[in-house]
Amino acid sequence: MQKTLRNELFNQAKEWVLEAGEKIREKINQPMVIDTKSNPHDLVTETDKLTEEFFANRIKEKFPNHLLLGEEGYGDEVTSLDGTVWIIDPIDGTMNFVHLKKDFAISVGIYHNGIGEIGLIYDVMANVLYSACKGEGAFKNGKRLEPLSDTVKLEESIFAFNHNLLCTSEQFDRDITENFLRNIRSARLVGAAAIDIANVAEGLINGFISKGLSPWDIAAGMVILDEVGGVTTRNDGNVVNMLEKGTIIACNEVIHNRVVKHLKNWI
Ligand code: IPD
Ligand code: CA
Ligand code: CA
Repeated sequence: MQKTLRNELFNQAKEWVLEAGEKIREKINQPMVIDTKSNPHDLVTETDKLTEEFFANRIKEKFPNHLLLGEEGYGDEVTSLDGTVWIIDPIDGTMNFVHLKKDFAISVGIYHNGIGEIGLIYDVMANVLYSACKGEGAFKNGKRLEPLSDTVKLEESIFAFNHNLLCTSEQFDRDITENFLRNIRSARLVGAAAIDIANVAEGLINGFISKGLSPWDIAAGMVILDEVGGVTTRNDGNVVNMLEKGTIIACNEVIHNRVVKHLKNWI
């Protein structure tokens, strides 16, 4: 994508993200309309839907030939990444939104012919915006993020790791998981995949691992992480197909191989 076009798109997307965040903050203490989706732990609120609708309306109006791949159904039937596709999670970390009223994000990735061009992750209550344009570095509230450490060791690393992996997976997977956890320093989890990945990009933690993530959970984070020298793959090291759901390892490149060695046999 041409740089001027990308910058124009970036500025527009950023403006909409900040506007949507402001709307969410204004209503944070009002009663929420909460529903469940695939299972009782899978929450969705009126605000998730309204926020995605906000983006859908604006994208359709301003960029009628762009497509939207979104979580809540206001987007398009996206079957290919040809052209320009906005991949949006209107609220990533809905469980946090409902229970903690913080630690959730708006996540917007913009891909052009399959290439991640723009990533925006807005931690709404903290008013922190992580952003990146391909090839131009990653930023936190406009301040450039440093390249990731090239000396980190797996044994001294901290991973964002979803404890659900220990509750729900097969015994075979649990053994692999436990062995991995014994080989790192510790595990932490914010509970919003986009923020967990942003924390890897900022170098606060060294990696993030989760099963069953959707494109909108990771699209923005992958662009941002790539700009500081991080990598995102499936657990077997394969590239991520942005149209499919799956397991994610997003981490410092220096330890990536060793993480894959540990987790590649997960079912
Ligand atoms: C969820 C969050 C959570 C992750 C789940 C996602 P949602 O997204 O990112 O951290 O563990 O797999 O589905 O439903 O809050 O947008
Ligand atoms: Ca999500
Ligand atoms: Ca969501």
